[in-house]
Amino acid sequence: MPRILVTGATGQIGSELVPALRKRYGREAVLALGYKTPPPEPVDAGPFKTADVRDASAIERIVRNHRSDKIYHLAAILSAAAAADPKLAWDVNMNGLYTMLEVCREYGCSLFFPSSIAAFGPGAPRVNTPQDAVQRPTTLYGVSKVAGELLCDYYHGKFGVDTRGLRYPGLISHGAPPGGGTTDYAVEIFYAALREKHYRCFLKAGTRLDMMYMPDAVRAAIELMEANPAALKHRNAFNITAMSFDPEEIAGEIRRHVPGFTLSYAIDPVRQVIADSWPDKMDDTAALQEWGWRPEYDLAAMTRDMIEQLSKKAVGAYPGGGRADNGEPA
Ligand code: NAD
Ligand code: SER
Repeated sequence: MPRILVTGATGQIGSELVPALRKRYGREAVLALGYKTPPPEPVDAGPFKTADVRDASAIERIVRNHRSDKIYHLAAILSAAAAADPKLAWDVNMNGLYTMLEVCREYGCSLFFPSSIAAFGPGAPRVNTPQDAVQRPTTLYGVSKVAGELLCDYYHGKFGVDTRGLRYPGLISHGAPPGGGTTDYAVEIFYAALREKHYRCFLKAGTRLDMMYMPDAVRAAIELMEANPAALKHRNAFNITAMSFDPEEIAGEIRRHVPGFTLSYAIDPVRQVIADSWPDKMDDTAALQEWGWRPEYDLAAMTRDMIEQLSKKAVGAYPGGGRADNGEPA
C-alpha cells in the first residue's frame, strides 16, 4: 500500500481527494498537509499536519517521518489570486513545487502535479485544444503552470522521479469553496440560485470555458497515479475535460431544477481577460489512449447532483468570495 502526502489538503480539491484516498488506501496511509486553515470535515478524520510548502526542512521532516512514497502536491495560488499578488503566486507555485520535487528525488517518492487549462494562452486553438498545442499563457498563474509542467518533466528525465500531471479544467464542487480562481462563478451560481434565485455573474455572456465535476477530477488524479508507467508517453501534463458551457447554458440547466432562476452580469475585467485567454474545451485523446480516461458527469448530470447535494445542506451565504489561505487577507 502506498503512503501518501497531500499538500493543499484543506482546499477545493484536497478536501475531497483526501477522503477518497483514505477510502482506497486506509486512513493512516494518507497524511493531509494544510497551511493556515483548520481541517474541514472529513479531512479532520485522519492524520493532519500543517507546513508551508516552501519550507524545505519542514517538508523533508514530514516526508521522512511519515515515510511517504507518493505526493499529491495541490498547494498553489490560483489564477485570480495570482493576478492580485503575482510575487506570492510565483513564490508558492514555483518554490513549493521545487521543494516537493527535491524531496521526491531524495526519498524516491512519485509526484502528482495539477496543471490547468491556464497552461494555454490565446495562441492555442480554443476548441479541442490539442495535447501538444503551443503553450504561451498570458497570466502569471499560467506561466507558473507551464514552468511547473517543464520542471516535472525535467525531474523525470534527469533524476527518474515518477512525475505525472493533469491539466484540469475549471472544477465544480459542493464541498470546500474554490480558492480564488476565474472559473469560480460556476460554483457560486449554484449557491446563489438556491438562496436568491438570482446570480450576478462576473464573466460576460458567451464566455465558454472547459469544466469538470469534482468526482471526475478526484478519480482522474487517482487513476493517473495508478496507471502503468510504460503506457505513458506524456506525463506533465495530460489534457482532461468533461463539459464546456457559458453562463447562459449553466443557468438554463439550473433553471430546470430552480424555476424562475435569473442571471445578470457585473463583469470583473481582470477575470474576464483571464477567461478570454483560456480554452473552451481541451482535446483529451492522449489521456484516453494512454491511461483510459473517461469522464462520468456532463452538464446535466453535474447540475442535478450539485442541486441535490446543496439542497441537503442549509445553503447560507456563499462560503467563497475570495477565500484565501495563502498568508494574505481574504
Ligand atoms: P485551493 O485554493 O482551494 O487550495 C489550495 C491550497 O493551497 C489552500 O488550501 C492553501 O491552504 C494551500 N496553500 C497556499 N499557499 C500555501 C503554502 N505556502 N504552503 C502550504 N499550503 C499553501 O486550490 P484547489 O482548487 O484545491 O487547487 C489545487 C491545485 O489544483 C492547484 O495547484 C491548482 O492550481 C490546481 N487546479 C485547480 C483547479 C480548480 O478549478 N480548482 C483547476 C485547475 C488546476
Ligand atoms: N479553476 C482554476 C482557476 O480559475 C483554473 O486553473 O484559477
